[in-house]
Amino acid sequence: MSQGFRILKKERLTPVTNRFVLEAPWVARAARPGQFVIVRVHEHGERIPVTIADFDPAQGTVTVVVQEVGRTSKLFGALTEGGVVLDLVGPLGEPFRAGRGGKLVIGVGGGFGAAALYPVVRSLHQQGVKVEAIIGARSREFVILEGELGRVCERLTTCTDDGSYGFRGFVTDCLKLRLEELKGQDGVEVVAVGPMPMMRAVAGLTAAYHVPTQVSLDPIMIDGTGMCGGCRVTVASEVKFACVDGPFFDAHQVDFAECVRRGKMYACEEAAARAA
Ligand SMILES: Cc1cc2nc3c(=O)[nH]c(=O)nc-3n(C[C@H](O)[C@H](O)[C@H](O)COP(=O)(O)OP(=O)(O)OC[C@H]3O[C@@H](n4cnc5c(N)ncnc54)[C@H](O)[C@@H]3O)c2cc1C
Ligand code: FES
Repeated sequence: MSQGFRILKKERLTPVTNRFVLEAPWVARAARPGQFVIVRVHEHGERIPVTIADFDPAQGTVTVVVQEVGRTSKLFGALTEGGVVLDLVGPLGEPFRAGRGGKLVIGVGGGFGAAALYPVVRSLHQQGVKVEAIIGARSREFVILEGELGRVCERLTTCTDDGSYGFRGFVTDCLKLRLEELKGQDGVEVVAVGPMPMMRAVAGLTAAYHVPTQVSLDPIMIDGTGMCGGCRVTVASEVKFACVDGPFFDAHQVDFAECVRRGKMYACEEAAARAA
């Protein structure tokens, strides 16, 4: 019988987002930026994938930032310091790799995406790559990880949809202005993590500017080992499984229409679980 993974620290970042530091020494030792874990909060929760937002091999800890969107993420949000997460499997997925010519990488993060972006841009910064970030939220109270990102980025812009803080507008509005400024400059790359519509919009924008772009796809995942087919996506007309081939893919080759369609597969069941 599993003893679970102890929650050493819990911090509320926004009204719907918590950061958890979990004791998971084996995972912490093997983790690389961009990888994720699949957790089962307790026996009444489904398995849900969450990105490793930080890891400390010396302390044996893994940090995750979880946004409450449905039944299981809410059960996760209700856990307390000193409590346990029943199962945690990982690290899963391929670590992030910047393109070979990247001299400036612009990270774009929406919602929990800002947390998922953090280990990626920190690692690039540590490798001497120039990094900038553009993060977005509905309004000021939903902005996360500004301090952490600010410490590893040469330039950080925070956008809010309602203009209550920082740049007023979507991350794509801000990215467009930056791409205009950088027009003609070689070696610019973009990496985007966040809601599917945001990543799709980023992909459309950067394609127009011929800027290589990776997105971290978040399809429905079940086993996380490439066996069930739940996370099937089509990239460059080839079938890929995001849990083992991704989560990062060439944004300009992703079939986003299929991703959106497949993301709604269990909409009725999710609504019923939320209402229960
Ligand atoms: C690789 C990856 C990394 C992720 N990282 C994070 C993260 O760091 N922080 C975070 O808050 N969220 C992250 N997510 C999204 C997170 O997994 C979903 O929000 C969560 O599964 C929702 O479950 P629920 O029961 O609370 O909501 P539900 O009501 O069941 O679903 C709400 C929405 O979440 C998505 N979803 C539901 N079940 C799954 C599933 N098993 N796999 C993937 N998506 C699902 C669907 O789009 C669904 O419409 C990640 C997803 C993936 C694939
Ligand atoms: S989650 Fe089952 S194949 Fe990827």
